[in-house]
Amino acid sequence: MKNLIAGNWKMNLLPGGVAGYAERFLPQVRDLAGVVDLLVCPNFPALAPAVEAFRNTPVAVGAQNMHQELSGAHTGEVSGTMLHDLGVGWVILGHSERRHIYGETDALILAKLKRAHELGLRPIVCVGELLEERERGETEQVLRRQFAESLAGVGSELLEKTTVAYEPVWAIGTGKTATPETAQEAHRLLRNQLEEKIGTAAKGIRILYGGSVKPENAAELLAQPDINGALVGGASLDPDAFAAIARAGA
Ligand code: PGA
Repeated sequence: MKNLIAGNWKMNLLPGGVAGYAERFLPQVRDLAGVVDLLVCPNFPALAPAVEAFRNTPVAVGAQNMHQELSGAHTGEVSGTMLHDLGVGWVILGHSERRHIYGETDALILAKLKRAHELGLRPIVCVGELLEERERGETEQVLRRQFAESLAGVGSELLEKTTVAYEPVWAIGTGKTATPETAQEAHRLLRNQLEEKIGTAAKGIRILYGGSVKPENAAELLAQPDINGALVGGASLDPDAFAAIARAGA
């Protein structure tokens, strides 16, 4: 299985800066086509320029969130149909910032996941424990609950087409990366959950690691047997650093 290296730009970079980013990034990753899958997830206004800048390149474009309804009176929201219409292929769902700052629940994330599949968008669903939960020894319990309630409800066939991202909340944007062993342990747990649900097909599902991934630590994280890629925040804002991580994933 090829690694997926995904950049989550969060609320950073301007739409006008996308072409310049692509110009710097693309020459460094052109030879990785077919070896590693690449994805960038810009803010909503930057999606159209990103689709344009990365057309006919090895880099796919995804959104960071979407609404679960197709259209209607939802001021300030963006639907999956709109993403699809722009030519966006992927969407991140249930990122910890959506869960913890904007109160997204497992049930809401499941509704979004179902809608994304219905529209043919490729979803990446994020799970991960808070620092307090880890310190209380509740990591397994939290991951089991998030898996059962935000992922498994989609049914086996669609679960097989879903990418999972393990992002321990205490490692996001903090510079504190999970050690490769700690990350592997959580990924193994998620793989077991997938196996219980869909049997051997679980081996074909990518589980990305996210949380302070940098060029310096990417290779050892990606060497773990159950880590199949990375969801990169801060380091993906720098095209050189993101290209270095992409190379580590190849
Ligand atoms: P980070 O963010 O790499 O800046 O820690 C990861 C994420 O939130 O997806």
